[in-house]
Amino acid sequence: MSNKKVLISDKASGQQIELPVVRGTEGEPTLDIKGLPSGLGYFTYDPGFAATAACTSQITFIDGGKGILRYRGYPIEQLAERSTFVEVAYLLLNGELPTESKLNAFRDNVKYHTMVHEQLYTFISGFHYDAHPMAMMAGVVGSLAAFYHERFNVNDPEQRMLAAERMIAKMPTIAAACYRHHMGWPMVYPQNNLRFTERFLHMMFSMPSEEYEVSEVAARALDLLFILHADHEQNASTSTVRLVGSTGANPYACVAAGISALWGPAHGGANEAVLAMLAEIGDVSKVPEYIERAKDKNDPFRLMGFGHRVYKHYDPRATIIRAACYEVLDELGQDDPMMDLAMELERIALEDEYFIEKKLYPNVDFYSGIIYKALGIPVSMFTVMFAIARTVGWVSQWLEQCETPTKIGRPRQVYAGPTERRYRALHRRQ
Ligand code: ACO
Repeated sequence: MSNKKVLISDKASGQQIELPVVRGTEGEPTLDIKGLPSGLGYFTYDPGFAATAACTSQITFIDGGKGILRYRGYPIEQLAERSTFVEVAYLLLNGELPTESKLNAFRDNVKYHTMVHEQLYTFISGFHYDAHPMAMMAGVVGSLAAFYHERFNVNDPEQRMLAAERMIAKMPTIAAACYRHHMGWPMVYPQNNLRFTERFLHMMFSMPSEEYEVSEVAARALDLLFILHADHEQNASTSTVRLVGSTGANPYACVAAGISALWGPAHGGANEAVLAMLAEIGDVSKVPEYIERAKDKNDPFRLMGFGHRVYKHYDPRATIIRAACYEVLDELGQDDPMMDLAMELERIALEDEYFIEKKLYPNVDFYSGIIYKALGIPVSMFTVMFAIARTVGWVSQWLEQCETPTKIGRPRQVYAGPTERRYRALHRRQ
């Protein structure tokens, strides 16, 4: 809170009130409008929450104008270069980088919870083989509430942390199981002698009949992508988790809701949509045609992986992923024509007045699919990869919310329907 106040006056009634200005440690000043309805009799109208802060948070800071992203104060570039996903998970959950012993203890905790109840595999096998894995993820993660609901006490900090660690640990196991069900492959249990992303790749791709050696390049690349996707303050899926969490709902149900929100193509589903778009464009010669389509208001086509609600600058995660694309393709000895296509699309878009004026830059999803594809991850699993990583952000934000006095999330509306009218008996209606 700062001492500054903003005077709001209603010229029609002559009434005026002072509203306090809230200041965080960084970022724009924010007007605390809670007193507006009782002071002046007005609510505020902000569809899409483009101008509204719904909470105070100490987890992630974004300066969209400058292209800055920090987790708990640490620049994303430093974490991407020097940290690991598990360490970042600890940081996001606990607020500080761990000592070596704390990191080892955390790693052990996560390992301890990687298995899932056997009945969960029965549940997964009930889905049709070609069910979208995000639909399965939402259902299966929601069903974890059924396994852990009775004994769960949301007011107990230890139980909350246990639920958070459980979800981080089980998400890769569930994701791989959904994929293997789709492929008709036998389930593979988590190997806890492997590191987080190695373990996931082993569960995804190994066969009980053969030796499987996890690719170090693939495990490292996945670790980087998971770090970059781990949290992004109050995005649509995280806000969903917080909204559901504000009702006191079971945390597994909160995360299942987050998974559903993430699936949309305007949010995490964009990584899948980018690859579909690149496949549709097909050739660099077609790029100008698609750029024109993206600018045409009468055409629903948008450049997927472009634009962001907060970034009006190059998304810092996209910068890191673009560089990693070259490295990964090079190290795996692959040459993907989609990379050339993506580069050309970016080049032309960034020179185009429409994209310049609207400050539309590549976002985190523009290049991530190219890496996932190089690692052999099927396109339908791209958003699931995002969900595995973002689970850390969801549960960190949920923990923070539980530790802060919170009101139930309940927006208002501007009612634009019929005013009061009389009920007519069926025979009198036309
Ligand atoms: N292609 C073409 N035009 C675009 C694009 C795009 N990708 N993104 C925004 N615009 C245009 C809009 O048509 C609008 O134009 P107008 O002012 O003339 O009406 C203007 O830019 C502002 O766009 P909005 O949709 O109002 O911006 P908003 O902040 O609501 O949406 C969003 C942001 C959803 C990310 C949007 O840019 C988009 O749909 N991008 C493509 C999907 C995508 O990549 N999503 C992933 C985002 S990152 C993440 O969630 C992980």
